[in-house]
Amino acid sequence: MYILGIESSCDETSMSIIKNGREEIATVISSQIDIHKEYGGVVPEIASRNHVKNVTIVLEECLEKANMTMDDIDAIAITYGPGLIGSLLVGLEAAKTLAFLYNKPLIPVHHIAGHIYANSLVSELEFPLLALVVSGGHTEIIKMTDHYKFEKLGGTLDDAIGECYDKVARVLDLEYPGGPKLDKMAHEGYPNYKLPVPLNDDSYNFSFSGLKSAVINLVHNEEQRGNEIDKTDLAASFQKVAVESIIIKMEKAIKENDIKMVIVAGGVAANSAIREEMTKLCEREKVKLSIPDFKYCTDNGAMIGAAGYYAYLDGREADLKLNSVSQDKLA
Ligand code: KG4
Ligand code: ZN
Repeated sequence: MYILGIESSCDETSMSIIKNGREEIATVISSQIDIHKEYGGVVPEIASRNHVKNVTIVLEECLEKANMTMDDIDAIAITYGPGLIGSLLVGLEAAKTLAFLYNKPLIPVHHIAGHIYANSLVSELEFPLLALVVSGGHTEIIKMTDHYKFEKLGGTLDDAIGECYDKVARVLDLEYPGGPKLDKMAHEGYPNYKLPVPLNDDSYNFSFSGLKSAVINLVHNEEQRGNEIDKTDLAASFQKVAVESIIIKMEKAIKENDIKMVIVAGGVAANSAIREEMTKLCEREKVKLSIPDFKYCTDNGAMIGAAGYYAYLDGREADLKLNSVSQDKLA
């Protein structure tokens, strides 16, 4: 079964053709990072307008790359939410138009289910599993007992980890999106600054707003004292604590749940320290680990095409009344 996956929830217009939920035939990602960089973050209205400009070009390129036509496609999977509503609607209208014109099933995919199923492109998922979802908008531990059966064990009480990375990066004068640059900078310094490990409690929850404030306060206090901040050391200190707080809760979740596999999902799955520490943790706990290739960590149509296959098998077909939603729980 060939599924056309369409993703436009933030600042990437992306389409991909995926065979049977596991095999990538072709992917095109048109990123708007360079456009939004000068504003220090994604400007929703500008993002929507660029999706409108890009959407037909991305479709044409994707089919061309796959050497296929719409007649070869069996179904269309679309991110219906959560995300920026104007951006989501552009992808959704494209998906609905294609489904109507070519008489193909339309499959609604939750953006986070997409991130989770990016792993299906590199590993066969084995259940029960734990998914660590770490992105610009989400920080959650999800348990899956089977394909498309999601149960939330815990999540952030305030900011998402990616959002926290981007805000701290801004304090360190790094360009948007700062997460990957902060990750790189952390390797050049030593974790000499003392920062509190957030929400070190007995739950599966996270909290990142206090850590962000702690960094901002530390910078202000040092400035007031006339001391220069060692940015690389501060980046290393922040990364150490942020990742430690993830690992503490994942270790607890692995120990307390009888699982076969751990998967990491979302843009922050590209983070070098998360990849390294999760690898060590899963070796210690003797569970299988899957992390997507770098290109499937941030938003892309391939993950939507992969998730769409399993959503379809789960009977999740939508009609043309399908609408986009800016907020929606996966579980
Ligand atoms: O999943 P994604 O592309 O978009 C959302 O659904 O949110 O994730 C983007 C987030 C941004 O906050 C970005 O800074 C962060 O992922 N990110 C990273 C790294 N690469 C991307 N954060 C830390 N370290 C990285 N290497
Ligand atoms: Zn995402």
